[in-house]
Amino acid sequence: MSMRPRVWVTQPVFGDILARLESHFDVRVEADVAPRAADALRAGLHDVDGALVFIPDRIDAAVIAGAHRLRAIANVGVGYDNLDIPALTAAGIIATNTPDVLTETTADFAWALLLATARRVTEAERWLREGQWTTWSFELMLGRDVHGSTLGILGMGRIGQAIARRARGFGMRVLYHNRARLAPELERDCAATHVARNELLAHSDHLVLALPYSAQTHHAIGAPELARMKPGATLVNVARGGIVDDAALADALDAGRIAAAGLDVYENEPAVHPRLLACRNVVLTPHIASASEATRRAMVALAVDNLVAALGAGPHAGRPPNPVNADALLARGGHSA
Ligand code: 8YV
Repeated sequence: MSMRPRVWVTQPVFGDILARLESHFDVRVEADVAPRAADALRAGLHDVDGALVFIPDRIDAAVIAGAHRLRAIANVGVGYDNLDIPALTAAGIIATNTPDVLTETTADFAWALLLATARRVTEAERWLREGQWTTWSFELMLGRDVHGSTLGILGMGRIGQAIARRARGFGMRVLYHNRARLAPELERDCAATHVARNELLAHSDHLVLALPYSAQTHHAIGAPELARMKPGATLVNVARGGIVDDAALADALDAGRIAAAGLDVYENEPAVHPRLLACRNVVLTPHIASASEATRRAMVALAVDNLVAALGAGPHAGRPPNPVNADALLARGGHSA
């Protein structure tokens, strides 16, 4: 029997990139993209040293309980709220993510949603395809201007900053709120002004969410926040479902409290709240903000680099580029063999 470490990949992605794992490990790649429930994850992880996982894979204490060989989880994604980090750290399992490589692609998509939402692009297309365009009318599909308006960004990490930089071409005023204010040179570079959360809600014509999901940010945009938003504003979420209270958003849209929303992520994805599905003034996309071919390939390549290094192989053995729980290395006593 082979003594090489074993790794499990939960989705069959970019075989040419995954092939790099084969020079170091015995690799098992799932053949389909079906969602993996806790039992399937437990079964997949119980006899492997490492795994490459995706956002729908929820790795928690119960799932890793019998995984005695497991030393590394490489998440394909910058957000890692699908991983129970304290449980992984306590078990000495290194977790890694894929920052930076998706920043610009995700910012592009935030803008695609912002523009489509403000200018009613998908709503207009649906209406046209339904054969409803029988007379050209001057007041048809009146939207909200983007140029010259105020862009609000909640969560000013790398992606928030990349969204802000793009606003220059539209002559927008950019406001942001973040737990920590940016350094002055970064604020200058983004031409963005830090404001209190309530001020951001009250003054943004277009509010974009780019903050990580956690217990603290759960329903950060709920009924009270939606009520504080500028009447007629638009809301875009490229961060995580759960940051927005989807039912409260449907109420605000139905009541005409805000003009429209553009959503790439949902509280219970892939299920979408039926009331959001029924709203004509919502642009809905299936969690694809980072989905350009080049970026999705770069994300998998980075996750592979992380997994190889975290399992003690390759040129960066023991030093994965993107650990999110460096403490796990200590819990394990230095770095992996
Ligand atoms: C991906 C994302 O869809 O990086 C993230 O946090 O949400 C997206 O880029 C996801 O990571 C795929 O697993």
